[in-house]
Amino acid sequence: MTSSLPAEPAIAADAPLLFFDSGVGGLTVLDAARALLPDAPIVYAADFAGLPYGEKSEAEIAARVPALLGRLVERYRPRLITIACNTASTIALPQVRAALDLPIVGTVPAIKPASEQSRSRVIAVLGTEATVRQPYVTNLAREFASDATILRFGAPELVRAAEMKLRGEVPDPAIFDRAVAGLVSQERAVAIDTVVLACTHFPLVQDELARAFGRPVTFVHGAEGIARRIAYLTRGQSFVGNGLRFVATGPAGDIVPYKPVLEARGFTSFDTL
Ligand code: DGL
Repeated sequence: MTSSLPAEPAIAADAPLLFFDSGVGGLTVLDAARALLPDAPIVYAADFAGLPYGEKSEAEIAARVPALLGRLVERYRPRLITIACNTASTIALPQVRAALDLPIVGTVPAIKPASEQSRSRVIAVLGTEATVRQPYVTNLAREFASDATILRFGAPELVRAAEMKLRGEVPDPAIFDRAVAGLVSQERAVAIDTVVLACTHFPLVQDELARAFGRPVTFVHGAEGIARRIAYLTRGQSFVGNGLRFVATGPAGDIVPYKPVLEARGFTSFDTL
C-alpha cells in the first residue's frame, strides 16, 4: 500500500514578507530584498517602544522579540519573517524559531564575507554593545576567520545617529569620530582593512563612518546575502503586490518624522501595534 503526505497548503500570493527591527535599521535589509523581489508585499515592523536593543539585557531581548513577532504573525499572517537586526538575531533566534512555525531568516554579523575579503587579516566588527559581546560573534570568528584578528567595538551612539538621519536631522560628526576611535585605539588597529557593520542601522551612516576613518577601509554587511536567502526560500512562490505597510510599537506620533523617507521607499500604510 502506498501513502502520500498531504499537500502543503498553498501560500496566499498576498501573504507578506515581514521585516522586523528595533527601528529603521532593517530598512537596509529591506532595500536589498526589494531589489530581488520587487513585487513582494511587505510589512516592516519597528519596535520603537523597545529601541535601542543594543543597550538591553539578553533576557529582555529573548523575551520581547518572540512575543512581538507572535502578535505580528497573528495580525499580518506573513509567509516568512526576516529579523533585520543583528542584536535580536544573535540573541533570540532560537527562541523565535521555537515559538513560530514559519521560515525565519536572521541577520548576523557578516564576518564570513569580511574574512573572504580581508588581506591584512585584521577585521573590525562594529555593532551594538549587546551584539559585540555575544558568543555568536566569537563562534563566527572561530569558524570563518580563525587566522584573523577580530577587533570589536559597541557603538550605541551610531544607532541614534542613523535614526536621526532618517528623521531628516543632522547627527553630530563627533559621534562617528568616537565610534572610529573605539576601534583605532585597539592594538593592531592600524592594519584594519575591513569593517563589518554588524548592526543594520550602520549602513545608513556608512559615508559618515568612512569620513571618520580618513583612510580607505572596506565596509561589509549582510544585507545582500540575506536578500538572496529570502529569494531562495520563496522561490517558485507568487507575489501579488499589496503595498508596503509600516507598523511600529509606541505612539503613532513617533512614526511621523520618518514618513518622508518611508514614503520615498513606497510605504503607503502606517499603523501601530
Ligand atoms: N538594528 C539593530 C541591530 O542590527 C540594533 C539597534 C538597537 O540597538 O536597537 O543590531
